[in-house]
Amino acid sequence: MPTRIGLDIGTNAVRAAKVSTNRDGEATLENIGQVILPPGAVRDGEVVDPQTVAECLTTLWSERGLRSRKVAVGVANQQVVTRLVDLPSVSDEELAEAVPLQASEHVPIPLDSATLDWSVLERFADGEGNEFVRVALVAAHRDMVERLLEALRLAKLDPITLDLDAFALLRALAADHLPETEGAEVLVDVGTSITDIIAHEHGAPRFVRELTMGSGRITDGLITQLAMRVDEAERTKALTGCSGGPPPEGVSPEAARIVADRARDLVEEVRGSLDYYRAQDHSVPVRRALLTGGGAQLAGLSEMLSEALEVPVEPARPLSNLKVGRTGLTDDELEEAEPFLSVAIGLALAPTS
Ligand SMILES: Nc1ncnc2c1ncn2[C@@H]1O[C@H](COP(=O)(O)OP(=O)(O)OP(=O)(O)O)[C@@H](O)[C@H]1O
Ligand SMILES: [Mg+2]
Repeated sequence: MPTRIGLDIGTNAVRAAKVSTNRDGEATLENIGQVILPPGAVRDGEVVDPQTVAECLTTLWSERGLRSRKVAVGVANQQVVTRLVDLPSVSDEELAEAVPLQASEHVPIPLDSATLDWSVLERFADGEGNEFVRVALVAAHRDMVERLLEALRLAKLDPITLDLDAFALLRALAADHLPETEGAEVLVDVGTSITDIIAHEHGAPRFVRELTMGSGRITDGLITQLAMRVDEAERTKALTGCSGGPPPEGVSPEAARIVADRARDLVEEVRGSLDYYRAQDHSVPVRRALLTGGGAQLAGLSEMLSEALEVPVEPARPLSNLKVGRTGLTDDELEEAEPFLSVAIGLALAPTS
C-alpha cells in the first residue's frame, strides 16, 4: 500500500501525518505527530533558522518512529503567492509560453527573485461558448524556498512535492462538501501568523488567498499593549475568547477588549478577501465555511466569522474523511489534535507526480 508523509512546517510547530492508500483509493491515517518549535525558528510561516527546524524534525521522526525520509511538504507565508487565473483556452504548449508572460500582472512579487509554478485546474466555457482555462499560478521567493529545503536537507528528509497549504486544506476537507449542496464552500485555516482561505465547489478551487495575519496577532496585542508574558498572553486569549460578555475571572476588561478587537480585525480581513471573490463576475455563492487551525479554537471566533460572512461556519473535521489506523493516540488526544492536522493530512494526500 503506498504511503505518504505530509509535513506541515508551521510557525508554532512541525507536524507530520502518514497516510496510506489502498487499491480502492481509501486513505488511512497511520501516524501523526508534532513537535513545538522554539520561538523564532519559523517566523510568519517562513523558516528562519534551518538548523533548529531540522533538529525538531529529527525529534519528530524519532518520537513518532517514522522511517520514510520522503515528505510532501507545504508552504504558506508572505513569500509565496497563489492566484487562480482564467485565460483563453489554448494548447498546453501555447500555455507554457503564455503563463510566464502573464504572471507578473497577477503576482505581486518580483519574478526575477521568485520561482514560478503553475498547473491547469480545469478547462471550461462561458455562457457564450468562449473556452477558458483556469490556471493556478504560484510564485515563491527563492530565498524562502532555499531555507525550507536547507532545513529538510539537514534533517535528511527528501521533499517529493512542495505544495501550498491551501491546496492541502482542500484535499483534507473538500470531501466534507455535501454533494447536494449548490454553491461554494470556504475553508479557512487560522494559524499563528497565516490564515489560508480557499473557496471550492465540490473540490474544484474557485478562489485562494493567504492572509499574513493569524491568531498570533491577538496574542501580540496582549503582549505589546498590556506587557504580558507570552505564556500569560496565550492563556488569557484562550480563556477569554471573543464571544463578548463579561470577562472571565482574573481577566481584565482591557484584555478582553484587545482579544475581541483583534479577533474582529482578523475576521474582517477574511471577509474582505471573500468580498473580493464575491464581487467577481464568475463567483459562485458561498454556502458555508469550515474553520480549522489552532486559531479556530478561540471561543466565539466561529460565530463572529459566521456573522461577518453571513453563512454557517462549522469546525472542519479532517479525521472524518479518512480511516484512522493505529496512530498510537487515544481518541481524546486525536480529538484535541484534530484542528491542527488539516494541512499535514492534506499534504499526505497529494497525488504522486
Ligand atoms: N485553545 C486555544 N484557544 C485559542 N487559541 C488557540 C488555542 N490553541 C491554539 N491557539 C492558537 O492557535 C495558533 C496556532 O495555530 P497553528 O498551530 O494552527 O499555527 P501554525 O500552523 O503553527 O502557524 P502558521 O500556520 O501561521 O504558520 C496560536 O496563535 C495559538 O495561540
Ligand atoms: Mg499552519
